[in-house]
Amino acid sequence: MTILSLPSGEGTIVLEAVPTGAPLWRHFGAACASAALPALADTRTAASFSLDQDCPLTLAPVGGTGWFGPAVVELRRDGAALPLVWTHADHAETADGLCITLRDDRAGVTLVQTITCEHGGWRFGAELINHGSAPVSIEALASVVVPVPAGLARVVSWRGRHNAELVEADEALPQQAWRREGRRGISGHGGAPGVYLCAPAPTRDHGDVLALQLCWSGDSRIAIERDDEGFHVLTAGAVLQPGEATLATGRRWTAPDALLAFSARGRNGAMAVQHAMVRAMLRWPGGAMAPRKVHLNSWEACYFDHDAARIVELARAAAAIGIERFVLDDGWFAGRNDDHAGLGDWHPDTAKYPHGLAPLAQAVRDLGMEFGLWVEPEMINPDSDLYRAHPDWALHCDGHPLLTARNQLVLDMAHADVRDHLFAVLDAVLRSAPIGYLKWDHNRDLVPPGGAAQVRGTHDLLARLRAAHPLVEIESCAGGGGRSDAGMIPYVHRFWTSDTIDAVSRVAMQRGFVAFLPPEVMGSHVGASPAHATGRTQSMAFRAAIASMGHFGVELDPDALNPADRDELAQWIGFARAARQIAHGGGVWLGEGADGLVWQAQGCPTRGLLLWVVRCDPPQDRRPQPLRLPFLAGQGDLAVRLLGIAGGLAGHAAPLPPLWQGTDPAVFSADWLARAGLPLPPLKAESVAIFHLAGAQAGAMAPLPRFPRNS
Ligand code: DGJ
Repeated sequence: MTILSLPSGEGTIVLEAVPTGAPLWRHFGAACASAALPALADTRTAASFSLDQDCPLTLAPVGGTGWFGPAVVELRRDGAALPLVWTHADHAETADGLCITLRDDRAGVTLVQTITCEHGGWRFGAELINHGSAPVSIEALASVVVPVPAGLARVVSWRGRHNAELVEADEALPQQAWRREGRRGISGHGGAPGVYLCAPAPTRDHGDVLALQLCWSGDSRIAIERDDEGFHVLTAGAVLQPGEATLATGRRWTAPDALLAFSARGRNGAMAVQHAMVRAMLRWPGGAMAPRKVHLNSWEACYFDHDAARIVELARAAAAIGIERFVLDDGWFAGRNDDHAGLGDWHPDTAKYPHGLAPLAQAVRDLGMEFGLWVEPEMINPDSDLYRAHPDWALHCDGHPLLTARNQLVLDMAHADVRDHLFAVLDAVLRSAPIGYLKWDHNRDLVPPGGAAQVRGTHDLLARLRAAHPLVEIESCAGGGGRSDAGMIPYVHRFWTSDTIDAVSRVAMQRGFVAFLPPEVMGSHVGASPAHATGRTQSMAFRAAIASMGHFGVELDPDALNPADRDELAQWIGFARAARQIAHGGGVWLGEGADGLVWQAQGCPTRGLLLWVVRCDPPQDRRPQPLRLPFLAGQGDLAVRLLGIAGGLAGHAAPLPPLWQGTDPAVFSADWLARAGLPLPPLKAESVAIFHLAGAQAGAMAPLPRFPRNS
């Protein structure tokens, strides 16, 4: 008997290799030694009404073999189901994991599964090869089929819609089955295709948690089934369209990778591993993340109503408050005066931009900012020259009506001519002017479905553009956060979280976002008040404080602000530029306090940490309770400064306790902060207390972000 052990971070995978067939699952969960194990067959009790040949869960379960749970792969040949039996099984240790090759010679099919231990988690890969003499059609190929670690009892997931992304749902593990499935062609407004499975009463910092996300930007299915033996099986994979994955002899199909993280340190522990795995996939221009430039995006400042003079005016106002990257959003290209026309014709509108983009981009650069541009390459308006020339390039189903959304159709990205055309026009745009950034939008669901080919076509185009323009950063947007996933990570550097820029709404969304993706790629803007999406009014300080947790930006016309607000916003931009040194690229911890408080910390406890304590609703208690910060335990003595309270200062604000009135830091043992808690100042509704923490020994503190004058 051969035991295969794959420890990574706080968890271990233990498999048992068997002479024929896929390795058996022995353990998935908390780290444990596996040197002296009896064979699984010797530990299984007999069960009535069962086959005489035991069929436990394997790494690659298939139906029709005595296994009645979910299958790793379902195939058809000549229209009939193609049953599989793994007649040959090989495993090879790789530098950092395992490669398992399973073959069914009768069916002429090979499945190669890889498990790579990386950054404290595991990356699962799967590839199917047809070496039979006739084509084989893949109905489904799971990226992973794993047992749910023993003791987990809750399913935490996110769903959402345009303008209401990332709504968290916390449910019990199902008695029958649970499923999160997308069929809209993009990963969708529920955020990354992923799930957290947690211990019965999980806290952010304690208890076993398994987090999974797929590196996929299209339809996906994540499912949990309860077996009548009493355990749960988790599967995840891309959803394939019927017939689209039909492999001729010798051809192969690769499933998207899945990233899995196990932690005994609660959701924060599993989140940290997900961030580490995702960060390793980011491809930054120049090889490393540079400080994330503060944006001004023109969309909510002027929507479609702009021309060269207006944009130069907006750019001047942006530069005057410290903006570093100016992004010209929708409306700059031919015929684009509203959302009825123009998509597909990627050259400047000659009425609005008679001299093209070059002088405009140069003017922006002369103001000391980078110039960025909005595009929506995969889309086409019927009212466009491109559509008139190539109506057949739109995704369509013969005999079915063409269904528009926002007056647009979708280009068929499986079509090499379409991709070549898009590469040529985008390459020309990027060469026509000093453009350092693209915001890449996608404003509709796919009807008819484009399937995996659509996703892979888009990834292919993105890869070509990145190769041709390696210094250009790209932002992924799909009507807000409709395509925020690790499938896009190798090609993009930012995600637009939501078209709802209302800071109260953003609190929960941003917490959902960082469950899978790190905050430095989370676009978070200061929008107008009242917020365009909700009509709610919030102070400049509250809006800016919430935005300062992510990749900070502004989405309003600074000249439309009163002078006090404009000055305050400029100060917040200064704060965000200092805060990003601490808040980006490091640890992220979330938690909840008493009386409706939520908090978020980013950075490093000893070198420098920012802590945002957020109150959205009015307090009900007379005094704030100390805020326990369990992740700090064992970090020595920490110097703590209250940088300030953003928002909520007017009216009946209670005075600060003496501790927080001076400028000297208070020193606490980290264990005190972890177990007894940080004494908090009073917070009114829609306010954020921002603290700076660092090791108390001299010289350990990172540069202190200067707190803006407050509103
Ligand atoms: C949807 C995006 O989410 C917005 O930020 C903006 O870019 C519009 N599309 C432009 O049409």
